Amino acid sequence: MVLKTNIKGLVLRNYILEDAVTYAKHADNYNIWKYFRDEFPNPYTIEKAKEYIGNICNANQKTYLAISLDDIVIGDIHVAQQTDILKLSGFLGYWLSEEFWGKGIMTEAVRVFTKYIFYNSELIRIFARVFSNNVGSMKVLERAGYIQEGYFKNAIIKEGKIYDQLQYAKLKST
Ligand SMILES: CC(C)(COP(=O)(O)OP(=O)(O)OC[C@H]1O[C@@H](n2cnc3c(N)ncnc32)[C@H](O)[C@@H]1OP(=O)(O)O)[C@@H](O)C(=O)NCCC(=O)NCCS
Repeated sequence: MVLKTNIKGLVLRNYILEDAVTYAKHADNYNIWKYFRDEFPNPYTIEKAKEYIGNICNANQKTYLAISLDDIVIGDIHVAQQTDILKLSGFLGYWLSEEFWGKGIMTEAVRVFTKYIFYNSELIRIFARVFSNNVGSMKVLERAGYIQEGYFKNAIIKEGKIYDQLQYAKLKST
């Protein structure tokens, strides 16, 4: 599957196992890891990338996509469907290679991906959680139509420091 965007050469597409080398090269970055849960691999090895692509992405081909520029993976976007009574909600996650920050790429990726998910899955709500120091990610979500709906004080400990966490969401119906 390939989702087109309004940026030349930029598509959202399924992963192939051969993406693992490039994926690991871009994901292996402290400036990405610092905004994620500690379980995000660091260092991000090719083996770890193969596990992610071969297991999680392969099992969830409609909802875990590569951000690809001229057919090279430069980032990841996915939504994890929740379970049980929360099963109509999805948890959005994404990162972009630092080489490409500040060009509007993730705003476009989140916009296209959100629209696609609402039209092609049973989800009626997509939410994201952001560290309080991650201004770039807040801007992405706001520009893609997400609304801040929660603010959780002292929710995060990362590298021994406490941060607040913001929750954003977009509803299918809005
Ligand atoms: C957050 C991230 C996805 C943004 O991707 P991107 O393609 O650079 O985003 P965009 O270019 O679409 O928009 C980012 C906006 O935030 C701005 N921005 C970035 N860092 C900022 C900061 N510290 N303070 C203020 N604005 C900031 C950019 O200038 C840009 O705004 P502009 O277009 O008005 O100049 C990318 O930086 C990233 O992968 N970060 C690490 C992983 C991460 O944080 N993932 C999300 C976890 S919730």
